[in-house]
Amino acid sequence: MTDRLIIFDTTLRDGEQSPGISLDAAEKLEIAEQLARVNVDVIEAGFPVASDGDFEAVQAIARKVQGPVIAGLSRTQVTDVDRCWDALRDAARGRIHVFISTSPQHMEHMLKMTQAQVIEATRTGVARAREHTDDVEFSPQDATRTPLDFMMEVLRTAVEAGATTLNIPDTVGYGIPWDFGALIQYIRREIKGDYVTSTHCHNDLGLATANSLAGVQAGARQVEVCVNGLGERAGNAALEEVVMAIKIRADQFPGIEVGVRTEELARTSRMVSRLTGYPVQYNKAVVGRNAFQHESGIHQHGVLADRSTYEIIDASAVGQVGSQIVLGKHSGRHAFKDTLAKMGITVPDDTMNAAFARFKELADRKVQITDADLEAIVAEEMGTSVEQAFTFGELEVSGGTVGTPRARVVVIRDGETHEATEEGDGMIDAACKAIKTATGVDGRLIDFNVSSVTGGVDALGDVIIQVEAEGVKVSGRGVSTDVVEASARAYLNAVNKVVRVRSRAEIRHADVGP
Ligand code: KIV
Ligand code: ZN
Repeated sequence: MTDRLIIFDTTLRDGEQSPGISLDAAEKLEIAEQLARVNVDVIEAGFPVASDGDFEAVQAIARKVQGPVIAGLSRTQVTDVDRCWDALRDAARGRIHVFISTSPQHMEHMLKMTQAQVIEATRTGVARAREHTDDVEFSPQDATRTPLDFMMEVLRTAVEAGATTLNIPDTVGYGIPWDFGALIQYIRREIKGDYVTSTHCHNDLGLATANSLAGVQAGARQVEVCVNGLGERAGNAALEEVVMAIKIRADQFPGIEVGVRTEELARTSRMVSRLTGYPVQYNKAVVGRNAFQHESGIHQHGVLADRSTYEIIDASAVGQVGSQIVLGKHSGRHAFKDTLAKMGITVPDDTMNAAFARFKELADRKVQITDADLEAIVAEEMGTSVEQAFTFGELEVSGGTVGTPRARVVVIRDGETHEATEEGDGMIDAACKAIKTATGVDGRLIDFNVSSVTGGVDALGDVIIQVEAEGVKVSGRGVSTDVVEASARAYLNAVNKVVRVRSRAEIRHADVGP
């Protein structure tokens, strides 16, 4: 007998609430499509009432992404619930996730509601959601700091009103595994009805994965997770950790089945990192670049003799080893396209020329081109293929310890070249300033991170930056064997996002105009 564990991914909702992350609808759709490829069961696509952008993203995902149930978050107010359903209504299977805070801290300081009012709001919100769909989830926010009797009353009300999933959020990461497990067990025992119990664990004490697993052991059959453990503050339980723990220690979870295609985990992690601008820590479990590296002589000796000596996960099972050298400088367009197709990457026709040109350029500078390199350059080109984008033309820099660093850039938009030369505190600063002048987009660099895509002296430098411009925060990513060029590309990428946000706002403005 197998028992399906529902993997509910909330990267696009809770994950997007990580400080500094702001994804636009196209980026959310790209991630949602990858989550469908990973085969998660539910994608929480956003919080439609929060903003027009969120509504549009949830709607686009509901319309286009096939496979998983598409969920939207909603407060208990009927207008919120209706708005949530408006965004979801075209999904093959849509779920409304209704929540309300139940802890004294939240009720007193934020909601300013009595217990009786919270119970009534729960009944109204869930019942309204049930008028739209028979898949309704309910969450008592800050459950682990809520007096037990009151929480039970709220949960009973939710089930009576039609909730089919009861999610127990450890909103502030206060839970301890055995305590959280006991709570789930108690709820399962005391609340009668046909519902699935779910965990939603935050990582403030570094226990999100452990608490989620304790919940599963106690009878929860849904876990809410985020790719790379993204989420509010210290984040949520990481998709890759929870899934691999259940797979690798199947002996501890007898009969439990997880539908995730684990070979897609590493690529998903890289994609989310690229689009959110959040780097993955090197020693991150499962998807970190060091997760399968061995440093000490004894460990290396063991692994060379047999990998099982120091590894419990087969790296290829989580997509951590790709084909090593996939292409070289003599490879043609056909081989390039074919290799990408084998990697599951579909490049739109209008981007193929630029992506192939980038590949040829890289092949001249780098002997071994790995699949991670290919993925990085293609992803960057796909980001610049959107309408209104500036494309990267030329970069010329001078600097060092003598003289003022200077950069000249050429960018192209709609076939027209824009050129500027600027000085700066360093060559990267000068290049960013020149891009500002050439594009006319005045951004402020707020974060800068550089790492390498693969090892070796000719490794691709991978730069992730965050830029604040015109009231929005956006991230940009650029790759090149030259770090100054990678930085300039990342900056231009971010500028393109600002342009995109601006043009969307103009379209919206025209829509609602007189
Ligand atoms: O952490 C939390 O309580 C949440 C709820 C909205 C489920 O994210
Ligand atoms: Zn949360």
